[in-house]
Amino acid sequence: MTDEREFIYTQQDFERARAMIYARAGIKLAASKFNMVYSRLSRRLRALQLSHFKAYLDYLDGRENEEWQSFINALTTNLTSFFREAHHFTMLDAYFEAWQVRQSKYRIWSAACSTGEEPYSIAMCAVEYFGSWSPPVEIVASDLDTHCLDTARHGIYPIQRVEKLSNTRLKHFFMKGRNENEGQVRVRQDLRRLIEFRQLNLLDDVYTVEGQFDVIFCRNVMIYFDKPTQREIIGKLVARLKPEGIYFAGHSESLHHVADQLQLIGNTAYMHAGAPVILKRGHK
Ligand SMILES: C[S@@+](CC[C@H](N)C(=O)[O-])C[C@H]1O[C@@H](n2cnc3c(N)ncnc32)[C@H](O)[C@@H]1O
Repeated sequence: MTDEREFIYTQQDFERARAMIYARAGIKLAASKFNMVYSRLSRRLRALQLSHFKAYLDYLDGRENEEWQSFINALTTNLTSFFREAHHFTMLDAYFEAWQVRQSKYRIWSAACSTGEEPYSIAMCAVEYFGSWSPPVEIVASDLDTHCLDTARHGIYPIQRVEKLSNTRLKHFFMKGRNENEGQVRVRQDLRRLIEFRQLNLLDDVYTVEGQFDVIFCRNVMIYFDKPTQREIIGKLVARLKPEGIYFAGHSESLHHVADQLQLIGNTAYMHAGAPVILKRGHK
């Protein structure tokens, strides 16, 4: 059988790439991702004018260089959307309502923000709830993937990505591109300035974000980690959650195995284990 691949790629290369992304990002790629790894990394080999995966992996292995970030960016999965899992945003409103008598700003962290749709949805919620472009919120949005973070910071999306938003939200929060920007929308600067984007690897021993948070969105990323890694990361996130704070997980992320740390209070929504549940409405 002739191998029609552009680059020489073996099972050993696949296993090596798998081990490397696991060590750097905690991402556990299934054995079935053999072809995915080939197609995602091929453009890196092309860019570096290499013909063998082995040469590419040798280039990375054992030394720090800029290519590591491109390797990571190529192997992360970044699927997201505005107001994904909408029930969490209803609960966010309920949280604002429950804790409305306070001096400090609400601190919210989108801990795997991908291309920004999640933190922008949080910001839209806050602007709508408080009826102001300066709501009392501080939103931190982080991800490991620098390419995603660039997109998030720019806040420019193909128009199809906002198709499901109401006309009111579209008009209020986005500008439509004209001429060469036709077919694109840009999040208004008033909304963009509410979010601080930064790179953060959830695998890091110490998180570089300061202080504690009222709400942590850490959605649809735990599925890429194995159970011990999940447990370790959740421990570090829970340490950053205020005693009354809420933790939102992704739709397929069951956190039964960390029941000693988090209790389920609604649809994939959690609080510290043992904390009194104070939300008045909309929390299921
Ligand atoms: C599928 S997206 C989820 C985006 C968003 N939270 C949502 O639910 O729509 C998963 C994100 O997790 C990020 N990610 C993967 N491993 C990570 C790590 N070790 N640290 C931080 N982010 C990571 C990826 O770069 C990707 O953007």
